[in-house]
Amino acid sequence: MQRTLVIFKPDCVHRRLVGQILSRFEAKGLAVVGLKLIQVDRALAEKHYAEHAGKPFFEGLIGFITSAPVVVGVLEGNEAITVVRTLLGATNGVAAAPGTIRGDYSSSKQNNLVHGSDSPESAEREIAMWFKAGEVASFTPAGSEWVI
Ligand code: TYD
Ligand code: MG
Repeated sequence: MQRTLVIFKPDCVHRRLVGQILSRFEAKGLAVVGLKLIQVDRALAEKHYAEHAGKPFFEGLIGFITSAPVVVGVLEGNEAITVVRTLLGATNGVAAAPGTIRGDYSSSKQNNLVHGSDSPESAEREIAMWFKAGEVASFTPAGSEWVI
């Protein structure tokens, strides 16, 4: 079992797509073990996207992610990190394959709806950054053996 961080970005919240997209993750077999709506401040945004500091799209990205509330969650399941990234599709919605979340709902490079951690190290770092210890469930959801 593995945990990953997902962020339903401001475009996702504004477009009322949080429920639909969360349903796709659940239908695939992932369980919600943490979930909250928050307004991201600049410090957290810069820390989360630290690997992109200095790139041409960085300022726009920080402005976007801090522009309105996001819904941030922790999902647990078999190979959760890869499963989420596969369901999301390519970063640029224009190139993302139909059937993927970005392929179906986004035609933007920046406004691509959902973030998913890209490695076990990123997932650990990001979960610790976005959630306090008591905000994430400490149990494995019942029935997990049916989705492995
Ligand atoms: P990145 O980590 O490369 O993509 P992913 O979210 O698929 O892991 O980039 C982080 C976010 O930065 C990406 O979701 C959207 C934004 N971004 C741009 O706005 N322009 C760009 O050219 C790139 C590469 C990313
Ligand atoms: Mg990334």
